[in-house]
Amino acid sequence: MDRIFSGVQPTGNLHLGNYLGAIRNWVTLQADYECIYCVVDLHAITVAQDPDELRASTREVAASLLAAGIDAKTSILFNQSQVSAHAELAWIFNCVARLGWLNRMTQFKEKAGKNRENASVGLYAYPNLMAADVLAYKATHVPVGEDQKQHLELCRDIAQAFNSQYGVEFFPLTEPLIFGEATRVMSLRDGTSKMSKSDSSDNTRINLTDPPDLIAKKIRRAKTDPEPLPGSPEGLETRPEAANLIGIFAALCNDSVEDTCRRFDGAQFSKFKEELADLAIAELAPITTEMQRLMDDPAYVDSVLRDGAERARGLAAPIVQEAQEIVGFLTS
Ligand code: TYM
Repeated sequence: MDRIFSGVQPTGNLHLGNYLGAIRNWVTLQADYECIYCVVDLHAITVAQDPDELRASTREVAASLLAAGIDAKTSILFNQSQVSAHAELAWIFNCVARLGWLNRMTQFKEKAGKNRENASVGLYAYPNLMAADVLAYKATHVPVGEDQKQHLELCRDIAQAFNSQYGVEFFPLTEPLIFGEATRVMSLRDGTSKMSKSDSSDNTRINLTDPPDLIAKKIRRAKTDPEPLPGSPEGLETRPEAANLIGIFAALCNDSVEDTCRRFDGAQFSKFKEELADLAIAELAPITTEMQRLMDDPAYVDSVLRDGAERARGLAAPIVQEAQEIVGFLTS
């Protein structure tokens, strides 16, 4: 059976972008794949984190994933730091990947900003650890949002370089799975920047923890333009905010952007936003409620992560041991 791996950072609340771009797809894929889902706390500390907040956030993100429909019995759910194979393989990949490859990573440039000299080495080597996450399980497919595409191309480059350096056919060339009508959800306040946990304004995103009235308020206040909605996707080309909201709508009702445009041809944003808010609340409110229930039982969430880590170790350890043997480590 093909194997899925994907990860999410525990650096604050999950938002609608994470949900539509990735997590909803993770839930669907469980029917057809063996799935391994990871809360990537090693990645989180590539920028400064408060230790107590990191712990709380790890548990909260795990609860959100369970609430969204990740089935901890059939899939594996765990936090990355608890399976040492990730860090061990990442070191090998640090020695396979080239500086020139990492220098091209746009996410590093964005995250490091102007103060590049002060960025952590971990932030720079971040994509190598991602490759290790995926390849420690020889995962064949990785469902992600559009923003992770470049990192997954690097993962293929690393697999290929390892195989060719050691003359083996060991690591697979993993395929990214980027699908749905909302692979890149944008900020509610600026249709040209990505919806993100790290945006300083909470009004730019819908969090999976937002109560219904707050979701409705954020959608009502979302930036738009003065024109009525267009009848076809071509009419969205120079209208980033309208394109974003239509994309969200289409994704939420499993429809195409084309059909959604046809449905709202000539409508005012006020009417459209009302329907969008109803749709978003209908989808997210049950997840929020279930998440709150799970957060009242932290021992249960911790037990899911502990069990997931044990199963993940069982899968990753022999693969990483074999990689070590290929490299020439004397294994005992
Ligand atoms: P992270 O935590 O930033 O995001 C988790 C998932 O959500 C997707 N996503 C979005 N999709 C659409 N629109 C958005 N605005 C949006 N924002 C986030 C991301 O594409 C991602 O799929 N480096 C990864 C985590 C990671 C990983 C891995 C992923 C670590 N190791 C191995 C895949 C395989 C990250 O920071 O995701």
